Amino acid sequence: MLNVEKLRKDFPVLNENPKLAYLDNAASTLKPQCVIEAVDEYYAKLGVNVHRGVYKLSYLATDAYEEARGKVADFIHADFEEVVFTRGASSALNLVASSYGINNLKPGDEVITTELEHHSNCMPWLHACNVTGATLKYIPLNEEGRITVEAFQSVLTEHTKIVAITYVSNVMGYITPIEEIISLAHQVGAIVVLDGAQAVPHMPVDVKKLDCDFLAFSGHKLCGPTGIGVLYGKAKLLAIMQPTEFGGDMADDVNCYTMTYKDAPYRFETGTPIIASAIGLGKAVEYVSGIGLSEIAKYEYFLKQKAVEGLKQIPNVIVYNETAETGIISFNIKGVHPHDAASVFDNNDVCIRAGHHCAQLITKWLKTVGTVRASFYFYNTLEDVEKFVQSVKEAQEFFGSL
Ligand SMILES: Cc1ncc(COP(=O)(O)O)c(C=O)c1O
Repeated sequence: MLNVEKLRKDFPVLNENPKLAYLDNAASTLKPQCVIEAVDEYYAKLGVNVHRGVYKLSYLATDAYEEARGKVADFIHADFEEVVFTRGASSALNLVASSYGINNLKPGDEVITTELEHHSNCMPWLHACNVTGATLKYIPLNEEGRITVEAFQSVLTEHTKIVAITYVSNVMGYITPIEEIISLAHQVGAIVVLDGAQAVPHMPVDVKKLDCDFLAFSGHKLCGPTGIGVLYGKAKLLAIMQPTEFGGDMADDVNCYTMTYKDAPYRFETGTPIIASAIGLGKAVEYVSGIGLSEIAKYEYFLKQKAVEGLKQIPNVIVYNETAETGIISFNIKGVHPHDAASVFDNNDVCIRAGHHCAQLITKWLKTVGTVRASFYFYNTLEDVEKFVQSVKEAQEFFGSL
């Protein structure tokens, strides 16, 4: 059982604002003191570049940076050299699409994706297909808006080369039946690019067990700093992938008309890497692992179920994802624009998100202009849920009476 009261003390933002119900964790989580200190310590005690300095401080900074890579690798059960630091999940997904995608796809090939994707896992593939002439295909969602194995099978063919798919939807909070999908994709020789931005912070993820080919996630949704994310790639795939950015430390041998690059992961980390944020992310995964990912998953689901129960008591509220297995709830108050509803939440110190959540395909699929989304993490409480439900009531009463 989580000791939520104790955990909350780790977060300066919550200490500063004890009344705050922060329910926008799918956008970014708050940062614990230990992560802030890890970043601070790098700047205070080291502050120098990595990999290239021939002096003690630079060796120490390099050790700290590479130690962070090791922690992240352990966290997702990857090998050390399979972890590429990127600017975020979007950069990681763009790297795969622009390199592996654009260099391997040709007319006649098929890329399978879904309407549940965040823009960061559909736009790069739309672009890759436009450039290469490959065909983009969508898995038809079921009546709840879920991806099913049967629907995946209905679009999978021997022409499928890439499956770009979310592990957990940032709007619907559904968990994709990914093991079966990966196994079926591999049977036709396709690779699977998994968007783990909403999964990795909230449940145990083991890339070796999943056997996914690529996995992308962000640091800032995982108690880590902004500006850092991860691309996991199977070593054999990273080895054949070309860099998309050139310069700095990724070079091996540079001549006037030829050049070679370092091996992965370094060939993808062009220029001075995101040193402080990588070190912060290393601390964040250590912190979150210490709490326990299975415990976090159970607790978020418990809070989300309580929120759903509360919403069901309020007239004219449409919940779009009642059966979600995670801590995300998407809803609307009939006749009230999500942004109007959001203003009532803000007045009550409840932070939620309103709009299309960078996922216009599913918003259109739901036939709405946007939704109101609350997303829980391990530091949220039943009191937060009550404040949230109370705010929905107030928004409904206020706008309903207009
Ligand atoms: C499912 C999903 N994928 C990708 C992203 C993009 O992540 P980042 O902001 O780290 O680029 C997000 C962010 O909201 C997301 O929810």
